[in-house]
Amino acid sequence: MRHLMSPLDFTTQELDRLFDLANDIERNPQNYAHACEGNILATCFYEPSTRTRLSFESAMTRLGGRVIGFADAASSSASKGESVSDTIRIISCYADICAMRHPKEGAPMVASEKSSIPVINAGDGGHQHPTQTLTDLLTIRSLKGRLGNFTIGLCGDLKFGRTVHSLINALVRYDNIRFVFISPEELRVPDYITDMLREQEIPYEEVIRLEQIMPELDLLYMTRVQKERFFNEEDYVRLKDFYILNVSKMALAKKDMLVLHPLPRVNEISVEVDDDPRAVYFKQAQYGVYVRMALILTLLGKDR
Ligand code: NCD
Repeated sequence: MRHLMSPLDFTTQELDRLFDLANDIERNPQNYAHACEGNILATCFYEPSTRTRLSFESAMTRLGGRVIGFADAASSSASKGESVSDTIRIISCYADICAMRHPKEGAPMVASEKSSIPVINAGDGGHQHPTQTLTDLLTIRSLKGRLGNFTIGLCGDLKFGRTVHSLINALVRYDNIRFVFISPEELRVPDYITDMLREQEIPYEEVIRLEQIMPELDLLYMTRVQKERFFNEEDYVRLKDFYILNVSKMALAKKDMLVLHPLPRVNEISVEVDDDPRAVYFKQAQYGVYVRMALILTLLGKDR
């Protein structure tokens, strides 16, 4: 039995297979409409979510399966003091696969150790968000035709943003990638990441201004300032509108640069950018359903 805790749990060959499957689902959804008939997905969300939980539910429903779960810790027995280890033992009796989001780093991992069904980490605190990373990689591979040979700018809250941490982790395995980290001083990417990049001799630079680097980027990954992980409101208010991607900044970029964003967006991309064909964040959300369908099939051993 396999779980998904980090994007590195799959080799790059396994990821290629997963993405091929996701692209086939995109082209021939009817072939998969009954693939998970009789199976149940549990979504256990101890933290708010729109896209991740609903895209999992949509994915399982589109595979012909059913979904149970809770969308908030207050409505689960966690509010009575139940541990995730106990909860997952119970969920294992009710479902065939579980997607779990938790504010504590490592909680889905703890659950997976006691689980008799596959557990998918749907985001653990500021740590990892592997299914968002699978979504991001599928989007890049489908729209750029390759994973590798590009300069990617990651912009915004690089300190608390788990999607950023997961994506960097996953991208270091591909060839010829240069990272540009664009953030205010207070929201720089954690040292453990830059240490890892230096160790592996992967080129990166850190800049504060988006404009200066825009012309060099093949991909721009925008992120929201993670309000819920700030220790004080004042810092959040000071930093939340540090970056706003608008039409005049887009004019500095390559004609085929792509803008990604895991969403939700707050103010960091102005809505006028949505009409630019290079803005692919809504398409990205659609890829999130295909990749989660492929992932459910793979973890349930129904991918062949
Ligand atoms: C992200 C998350 O939850 O980390 N959202 C998502 O799952 N698409 C990004 C965010 O909340 O900023």
